[in-house]
Amino acid sequence: MSGKVKRTDKTNKSQSTKTKQSTNHKSYRYIYIGSVIIISVAVIIGIFLTTCDSTNNYCIGSGPEKLGEKSKSKKPQEAVTSSFLGSLPLSKAEKLDFSIKKKLFAAADKAEHDKTIEDAVAAFESILRKYPSSARAQYGLASCIDRQAELQLSNQLLERSIEEYYKVGMSEQVFVGLRITSLERLADRASFRGFKQKARDAYIMLSDIQPDIAKWRNLLGIQYLMSGQDAQAKEVFKGVLLKWKDNGRALCHLGFLSYSENKFIEAVEMIRRGIELDEYCHEGRFFTRLGDSLLKLDKRAEAYKYYQQGANEGLLLSAWQRSLYNAPNLRASPWWEPKQTGHYDYIEKLEKSWRTILSEAEAILDEERGIFEPEDEGLTDTGDWKQYTLYQQGRKNAKACEKTPRTCQIIDTMADATSCKRGQIKFSVMHPGTHVSPHCGPTNCRLRMHLGLIIPENVRIRVGNETRSWEEGKVIIFDDSFEHEVWQESKSIRIILIVDIWHPDLNQQQKRSLSPI
Ligand code: LMR
Ligand code: MN
Repeated sequence: MSGKVKRTDKTNKSQSTKTKQSTNHKSYRYIYIGSVIIISVAVIIGIFLTTCDSTNNYCIGSGPEKLGEKSKSKKPQEAVTSSFLGSLPLSKAEKLDFSIKKKLFAAADKAEHDKTIEDAVAAFESILRKYPSSARAQYGLASCIDRQAELQLSNQLLERSIEEYYKVGMSEQVFVGLRITSLERLADRASFRGFKQKARDAYIMLSDIQPDIAKWRNLLGIQYLMSGQDAQAKEVFKGVLLKWKDNGRALCHLGFLSYSENKFIEAVEMIRRGIELDEYCHEGRFFTRLGDSLLKLDKRAEAYKYYQQGANEGLLLSAWQRSLYNAPNLRASPWWEPKQTGHYDYIEKLEKSWRTILSEAEAILDEERGIFEPEDEGLTDTGDWKQYTLYQQGRKNAKACEKTPRTCQIIDTMADATSCKRGQIKFSVMHPGTHVSPHCGPTNCRLRMHLGLIIPENVRIRVGNETRSWEEGKVIIFDDSFEHEVWQESKSIRIILIVDIWHPDLNQQQKRSLSPI
């Protein structure tokens, strides 16, 4: 169907918000996250080599890792030393590495400094040519290439290091501690590069190797969430709770998913317990989901108690303003006057052109109702609310504009609207009997202008604690990161044009670099 566009006006919906701000892969093309792992290759290789006693063929470790997940900030070294699962017979591969210990240490020494990292790569490669089954040489190579990738911001090197980690992590010949270290880094790098399947493979393998550690399964669940595979994620979290009924992380993720299935009582119970049990759950998205579930159950006072707690903990801008993708220090007010926006010119232009815009809206409405997309975020508890999108995430929908050329021409002159990567420009048609439940937009980086086109009696919008209505040919402006709610209680349709503009307090650099929503 021509002109059909996907609605992306996401409310605070996504569970994997931390990692899913946009569809961009978080690879080196876009951002650079400083290295956290590259602890010295020599240390890792040294730990593995010296904690094994080559005379009696056994490796002695510090016993099984404790259950639970207090290991948030555990250093890779500790991960290595504490992951020995009791005593293990020394394998053939272990014996090989002991026999070439000196070569391995010499190569690892080169990896100590960024200046000699290339030499280290060459040294590990040379060992591998002679001893292809040396696990430590393979791991050394993987982590040196990983480091090079970071230094050079190179996706190609990153991908190569992922391959090398994969070889170490997936090989049953390799000593278990080294496999765990490799798999953990593999998952992290693969996820960073957007290689979701590989990241999942790594967590599945980690869960197999260490079935008594809930962390791996939770991380697997989160990977599923990041790939939009909610059903699989749900199974994983349920599995965690069968084994560890008080696992906070699994509880809050599962509760978050319950909300999407309209299971609000379950959502409240689980998220609330998650928040009680684990600091991890103290995140804006869990507090908003908990409050939203309570609102659905008509428990307003309790909902605001949690919104307020989220705000007090610095996780939400305020109990009223609950967007999750925020820029700091922006003026925050539910309603705005034209003059305050710095875009009086746009507003005048829209108001002057309103009849032209209206006639195009009427034409598309008459032509084919199917070209309007229904609101798909479960915000309406009753009624019918549809939209026709002209711009989204700062990109023009040329197909849609073909049917409303004059409207698009007018909009094209408004740079702070057309370039607003965190907003949309769209016609919004609301039928009688529609109620849009209280909700917050995803970001404080935009202001939302509504140009009234067809406005019957008995329609109104509340933003914060002030309710207003529209007027034909007039613009109203609000900040949709504040809680808002809409009622359409008339006998005929209401049509408005929604134009999002960048928040006037953002500077050019921010407008350029903020990720699209
Ligand atoms: C909203 O932005 O949630 C609503 O105000 C949109 C509309 O069509 O009223
Ligand atoms: Mn809204």
